[in-house]
Amino acid sequence: MALLEVRDVCYIYPGAQPVEALRDITFEVERNEFISVIGPSGCGKSTLLRLLSDLLPIDKGEVLIAGEPAVVARRKREIGFVFQDPALMPWRSSLKNVRLPLEVLRRDGASEKATSESLLRLVGLGDFTAKRPDQLSGGMRQRVSIARALTYDPPLLLMDEPFGALDQITRDEMNIELLNIWEQKQSTVVFVTHSIGEAIYLSDRIVVLSPRPGRIVDIVDVPLPRPRDPAIKRSREFFDIETSLLGTLEGRRIHG
Ligand SMILES: Nc1ncnc2c1ncn2[C@@H]1O[C@H](COP(=O)(O)OP(=O)(O)OP(=O)(O)O)[C@@H](O)[C@H]1O
Ligand SMILES: [Mg+2]
Repeated sequence: MALLEVRDVCYIYPGAQPVEALRDITFEVERNEFISVIGPSGCGKSTLLRLLSDLLPIDKGEVLIAGEPAVVARRKREIGFVFQDPALMPWRSSLKNVRLPLEVLRRDGASEKATSESLLRLVGLGDFTAKRPDQLSGGMRQRVSIARALTYDPPLLLMDEPFGALDQITRDEMNIELLNIWEQKQSTVVFVTHSIGEAIYLSDRIVVLSPRPGRIVDIVDVPLPRPRDPAIKRSREFFDIETSLLGTLEGRRIHG
């Protein structure tokens, strides 16, 4: 059974002028798969992640995580969410930000503290556990928010353009680090990005959405070997996938 099953999901934001954001979205994500979602601005990528994590109620279609509705998976803490803006508590240290979800659940004993510390080491911030967000760089803050999303060891990690605000070099480093974390944790990732290169480098498959209302235009396999050396971005295979994705995004495939 796939870890995530999305079937015929549609979403219309209600209001005086309803906005149809997504139409007939159907795809599956296997356990341990890394899947990216790309598509033009405003096509419904963030809406899709909100529906997958039960931050928005589904009004048509179905989302199943390990065979259960998203609302059940959220209550069982099976979903980690990393937002574009790391949204850390400014007065709390890195460690205390990472521990926050556990404190809320009153599960904040010595073993949870050790887990939070090891998560910060995992994202390369072992020496920065006592620093506040304003003492960290943008990339470091985003790494704290990734560690925070991993506190429950969620089988499903949803990431909404987590590196969109970073410079290219930091972003490339974060991509390498994210793949390391994904391999170590054996989690399943749904990753939203604007960057075709980032999507190819990270993913097993890429879901391409049309302009709003977002529909699936194509689901593209990325048959590049793993572990992936960053030099792969300069390979012929990478370039071919990039060219084909650009064609799909430009609509050549839709209009023939
Ligand atoms: N709360 C809301 N109420 C009404 N309309 C909304 C709301 N949130 C988003 N929308 C609309 O739904 C559509 C999809 O928005 P969404 O944020 O999912 O797009 P996106 O693909 O994530 O865009 P971007 O790449 O710019 O982040 C847009 O047209 C947006 O204006
Ligand atoms: Mg968005």
